[in-house]
Amino acid sequence: MNTALSIIVGSLLCLPLVQAEDTIPLDPVTGMKMAGDWELVRNHCIICHSSQTFLRQRATEANWTSVLEWMQKHGGLWKLEADVEKKIIRYLATNYGPGDATNYRRAPIPATLMPPNPYASEARIEAEAKQQQGILRPAQP
Ligand code: HEC
Repeated sequence: MNTALSIIVGSLLCLPLVQAEDTIPLDPVTGMKMAGDWELVRNHCIICHSSQTFLRQRATEANWTSVLEWMQKHGGLWKLEADVEKKIIRYLATNYGPGDATNYRRAPIPATLMPPNPYASEARIEAEAKQQQGILRPAQP
């Protein structure tokens, strides 16, 4: 009896720990996970586009950083204060990081199962020409 009771009580106590990840409440307006600095991110990131623009993405800190840099260069995003930028990136990588595989629409199709891409070589020729003209930056190593 006592054993049964302690098993029941014990498993009830464990429940919040096991589910902690999934039970982060979502903001009903933006759909963002209401954790950590989410309001800072909301205040900065839904001015020009919907929150869905970034909620659908999954990326590491490095990749979120490059998304922000890309937007600063091409999307009109202003320069952020260093600590603000750090908090935004940390929020995104923690809550929308690559480990969150359940949110992918599907797993990537292995390259061996894909047909040859007829445009790949044309695209490469065009990219190389643009790099020579200085229109495109050379690919990062
Ligand atoms: C000054 C305007 C502006 C602000 C503020 C802004 N963005 Fe963007 N963002 C853009 C534009 C422009 C695009 C490209 C067009 C589009 O997808 O609507 C874009 C696209 C994106 C994309 C899609 C990139 C892709 O590869 O498709 C992501 C992710 C993103 N923004 C995240 C953010 C995050 C996170 C913030 C908060 C730091 C933010 N944006 C704030 C202008 C902005």
